[in-house]
Amino acid sequence: MTTLSAAEIRGRRQWPLPKLADPTAPLLEVRDLKTHFRLERGWVRAVDGVSFSLADGEALGLAGESGCGKTTTALSLVRLLPSNGRIRGGSVELFGIDLVPKSERAMLRYRWREISIVFQGAMNALNPVTRVADQIAEPIRQRLGQSDKTSKRRAAELLDLVGIPRKRLGAYPHELSGGMRQRAMIAMALACDPAIVIGDEPTTALDVMVQAQILLLLEQLRRDLGLSLILITHDLSVIAETCDRVLVMYAGRVAEEGPVDRVFREPRHPYTQKLLGAFPNIHADRRTLEVIPGQPPDLVDPPVGCRFAARCPFVMPVCTEVDPPEVRLEDGVRVACHLFPPSGDAA
Ligand SMILES: Nc1ncnc2c1ncn2[C@@H]1O[C@H](COP(=O)(O)OP(=O)(O)O)[C@@H](O)[C@H]1O
Ligand SMILES: [Mg+2]
Repeated sequence: MTTLSAAEIRGRRQWPLPKLADPTAPLLEVRDLKTHFRLERGWVRAVDGVSFSLADGEALGLAGESGCGKTTTALSLVRLLPSNGRIRGGSVELFGIDLVPKSERAMLRYRWREISIVFQGAMNALNPVTRVADQIAEPIRQRLGQSDKTSKRRAAELLDLVGIPRKRLGAYPHELSGGMRQRAMIAMALACDPAIVIGDEPTTALDVMVQAQILLLLEQLRRDLGLSLILITHDLSVIAETCDRVLVMYAGRVAEEGPVDRVFREPRHPYTQKLLGAFPNIHADRRTLEVIPGQPPDLVDPPVGCRFAARCPFVMPVCTEVDPPEVRLEDGVRVACHLFPPSGDAA
């Protein structure tokens, strides 16, 4: 299988780029995103200055402990935040168009059609009283304004593409296995031919064999359709196998980001080192697994300086005084840690 070039990927899209789009702009550019949740005791700074980009056809893995802001980042991109959530700063540019200031009505032009999302636990997301094929045809008809016949045909093609047998076209969600339902969710995410698909723990509820099949499917779709993927998972081996780049988050910030082979081989941030150490792999003896002592900070009132300082084995005085700047290293890895000062004032 060959990988498509960025130009080929854009040329293959069934639907034209949005009117205001800059055809030369990066596919997705997130800058200094701040998404907070309002609680009585203050704002939860769930995502607090996160930047990253995604290129055509690229797969980016999002990693980090539970509660570090992965889901909030994903929901911010498609603007599907819970009612107490608000994007309080930064931009999310898709083909150069900032989605943050868009009205909900204007967002309909982008959500599902340009960026779509597959959640964990497919059962909750599917309508139990509607046949699966009809649920997939619906957005094609509604959002893309296709005829009944075209929408049905496209739904059948999509189910075929994700490996649901034709004879199951009339099935209701409860008549499908967990793996088949997750495939249906992927078909639904693909219905409007989006440029970007986000998978938020898309295989978490499934058994290991089915997990592997679903990941293989995503990988195949990425190559065949020229999709760009953002894959959120607590399973680092999944990221190692399926992604080009990995972004490690800690307490609402980027700790480290870079090519998968670089970050996994030579993790720079002490948190990434701990995370990789804490993760069981086939080479590790279970008893030698490291658990990261301590807990992430309270995001309503995060500490000054590095948010990992309280748990960091290499903590220095500066760490509890000054936010670590994000530094781009020579091998393309970006790291936010005082052990890696910006060039010019190397320690
Ligand atoms: N609706 C909400 N109201 C208040 N806090 C929330 C809400 N949703 C998530 N959070 C908090 O935001 C932080 C990030 O959550 P989340 O993005 O779900 O993390 P992850 O997906 O990495 O596990 C956590 O501290 C979580 O408790
Ligand atoms: Mg989550």
